[in-house]
Amino acid sequence: MGYTLHRGDALSILKNLPDESVHAVITDPPYNSGGRTSAERTSRTARAKYVTGNARHTLRTFPGENRDQRAYRAWLTDLLTQCYRASVEHAVACVFTDWRQEPTTTDALQMAGWTWQGTMPWIKPASRPRRGGFKQSSEFIVWGVKGSLDTTRDLYLPGDYTASQPRKDRIHITQKPIDVMRTLVRACPEDGVVLDPFTGSGTTGVAALREGRGFVGIELSEHYATLAETRMARELRQDEVELAGPEE
Ligand SMILES: C[S@@+](CC[C@H](N)C(=O)[O-])C[C@H]1O[C@@H](n2cnc3c(N)ncnc32)[C@H](O)[C@@H]1O
Repeated sequence: MGYTLHRGDALSILKNLPDESVHAVITDPPYNSGGRTSAERTSRTARAKYVTGNARHTLRTFPGENRDQRAYRAWLTDLLTQCYRASVEHAVACVFTDWRQEPTTTDALQMAGWTWQGTMPWIKPASRPRRGGFKQSSEFIVWGVKGSLDTTRDLYLPGDYTASQPRKDRIHITQKPIDVMRTLVRACPEDGVVLDPFTGSGTTGVAALREGRGFVGIELSEHYATLAETRMARELRQDEVELAGPEE
């Protein structure tokens, strides 16, 4: 199985994807969260929101993080509506979010036509302790299905995840752990195609290829699209080497 990576705006490109051409949507959109006030959320960069003082690094920021709350809901609904149209019956959608945006994300998923099936916790043991309060060590994966689940498949997937993305291996500010993504992409049938309209550094794509699924991605940042392309091309080469076996 191979991959296609589109460079540009997710909503514009999604509108041109054929109907019923993908078999799962596994995506990690900009959360448009972070900050104590609406003004902070709509004015700070992704880097300023999500990278803390003692973890400063040189990773690039990314676009799409400055929508006000209702604008975010409308935009995410439009996006998930296009994903729904491009998906086959029984396709599963998994959408990452945080505690602030979980209600908006479950609204958007349902308004787009998906049948909401649940919200899975992703626990990050390595997150920072918080003086005077509880550690914010979870994000969430909201999931739904187009129509009903395909119960003819012999498939049983976990409903919670625990993993931290090692800081030293990170090439994207909000990179997701590959093992979590490898499990999620199994919601896609083996000969199917996974769609991620917010590809970032390509973690969903690498996971899909490693699990023998095809992949269609979209990424607006040229910098991150190039990193994703490099990672996915390397993954395919690796696969070819393994298939060819050791050299004589
Ligand atoms: C949360 S990150 C995804 C990170 C990814 N899961 C990874 O492991 O690397 C969201 C990505 O969406 C991209 N993005 C933001 N707005 C976009 C848009 N309108 N169209 C396409 N991509 C967009 C950002 O550049 C960013 O890389």
